[in-house]
Order: sequence, then structure tokens, then C-alpha cells
Amino acid sequence: MKIAVLPGDGIGPEVTAQAVKVLRALARDGLSLEMEEAPIGGAGYDAAGDPLPEATLRLAQAADAVLLGAVGGPKYDTLARPLRPEQGLLRIRKELNLFANLRPARLYPELAEASTLRPEVVSGLDLMIVRELTGDLYFGEPRGIHLNADGEREAYNTMRYAESEIRRVAHIGFQIAMKRGKKLCSVEKANVLETSELWREVVIEVAREYPDVALSHMYVDNAAMQLVRNPKQFDVILTGNIFGDILSDEASMLTGSIGMLGSASLDATSKGMYEPIHGSAPDIAGQDKANPLATILSAAMMLRYTFSHDEAANRIEASVSKVLAKGMRTGDIATPGCTLLGCAAMGDAVVAAL
Ligand code: IPM
Ligand code: MG
Repeated sequence: MKIAVLPGDGIGPEVTAQAVKVLRALARDGLSLEMEEAPIGGAGYDAAGDPLPEATLRLAQAADAVLLGAVGGPKYDTLARPLRPEQGLLRIRKELNLFANLRPARLYPELAEASTLRPEVVSGLDLMIVRELTGDLYFGEPRGIHLNADGEREAYNTMRYAESEIRRVAHIGFQIAMKRGKKLCSVEKANVLETSELWREVVIEVAREYPDVALSHMYVDNAAMQLVRNPKQFDVILTGNIFGDILSDEASMLTGSIGMLGSASLDATSKGMYEPIHGSAPDIAGQDKANPLATILSAAMMLRYTFSHDEAANRIEASVSKVLAKGMRTGDIATPGCTLLGCAAMGDAVVAAL
């Protein structure tokens, strides 16, 4: 199993180091893993003047899976847009054709108190957002800023989906629903947008191949409200790139900490890129304060989705539960009376629990 490790910026290197530690511990128990590191984001810009250096892209293309930390930082905010760290992330998604982004939001019982919502609203929460990742406003052309006929600056982006793009991510959504609670809610804005009208039509067509899955449709504004009103009504949410970006941040906070959630971005085979959904958190970078569990759980998703190694994935997830049950916490999920750990110590604790 060849893994490209792209730590990126801010807390990215600290959290990926902990996931690598966990993977190495599994390798000692017989899992055959090969890992190689390369810079991306601001680190890519610093190393090669490019947020996605050629050598990094080649390494990622040659690997079976990519483990990514996070990109971005204030130092790079004034660069021209194509040189910014976020472009490295968007380009690698596009280059590797990672069109299906899986973002689970699952509440660990031990963390029910960490949520800003009442425990009875979120306890037992386990939902999956399937976000389309290589189309929509993020990549639609034309886009730009120009002077209009009145001599005023005008900016525009294009929301755009081809039916094949909707169809392939819809299949992933239904397949995942089949392995879970067999409920899929497709989220769009079909009352206003043509893109969403087509989205809904194609999803209904695809649904005919999955008669066991109960399909519903919801407008995105209502979905944003329902997620905080009654999040447990959802099993799988299928949605486009921009709506999924927003709803997945919202869903993450239901679980108490954005530091707990991993993600998978998959292509049409089983190749994938795995990353925590949190960002580079420059304010705490290098201070050994970050929560590495989202990245460790992303490594578990890698074992499950790319390498079909459920047993190893389960071991990691069980170890995370065990560590939480023992009251070990990083600052972001700290509760009264807990044992406060730094990033590296949390990584060690998970390894010990394996
Ligand atoms: C995410 C992030 C990215 C996105 C940014 C960093 C480009 O917010 O992965 O959700 O918008 O997709
Ligand atoms: Mg986002």
C-alpha cells in the first residue's frame, strides 16, 4: 500500500505525524505500508514556488492513497490567487479526479457535552455528507472580475453541472446509503436554480437503480435549519460542492469539535485522498495543542475505503473510543476533570490503545 503523505501548513505537520505514527504501529503488526512525504499548499510554495509542486502531484498520482494535513496561513494571504495554498488543494482534487467527498459527522458518546446543542438533540448522531468535489461554482467557467459597461468592477462565477458529474456522485451516495441506514436526502435549491433542477432530475433517475433506498429532497436553506433543529433525521446527505462545503462545517459542530472529523475524497476507482475537515489553525500551529484525532480517523477511512482493510480501520476507531472513554482530551474537546493531552501525547495514547 503506497501512501503519499502531504502534511501542508499550520497544524498539518503535527497532526499528520500522529496519523503516520498510528499507521506505522499497524505496519509493525504486519500491514504492508510504504509512505513518502511531499510539500503542498504554503509549504509547496515555499519549497518550489507552487502550491502544488510537480513532484508532489507525481507522488500523489503514483500512490494508492494520499494523506493530507491542512493548507493555508496568513503568510500566504497576499499572494496572487493561483499561488495561494487553497489552489494546491483544489488542483490536486481536480487532477486526481476526486469527485466524491465523504464527510461523516458522528458523535462519540463521551463528547455529547462538548456540542453546543443539547445532548438529546445530538446523542447518537451519525450522518454522512456526500459532497460533489470537482464541479459547481468552484470550477465553473466563465469566472472573473472585470470592468462592466458602466466602468464599475463586476465579479462573476458560474454554477455549472453536467449530468454525468451529478450521476456519478449520486451513485456513490446511494451505494453508501445501502451500507448504512438506506436513507438519502438530496440537497439543492431547485426552486431557484437550473443547476439544482437538473441535479434533482438526475438523482431521481439514479434512484431507480436503488429501490431499497428511501430518497427525499430538501432545499439547502431548509437543510441548514434542519441540521440544527433535528439532525438525527438524516442518514446520508447528497449535495453539490458549494452547498456541501457549507453544510459540512455546520454538521461538524454538531459533534462538538471540528477536530474529530475525518474525510475521504474518492475517484471512480478506490483511490482516495484523506484529510481532516479542519483547517491549518495557524493560531495554535507548532504548539503541540492540536487535536490529531480527525487525521487519525482519516487514516482509518483510508484503510476502509481504499485498502478494504476494515479490520485495521476498526482497530483505529476502537482505539480512539478507548482513549476518549479514559477521559483523555485535547484542549478543543476538554471537559471538567479530563486528562489534558498535547497533540503528540494524544497520538501516543491512540498507539498505546491499539
Ligand atoms: C474544505 C475547505 C476548502 C473548500 C478550501 C480550503 C478551499 O473549506 O475542504 O471544505 O472550500 O473546499
Ligand atoms: Mg470547507
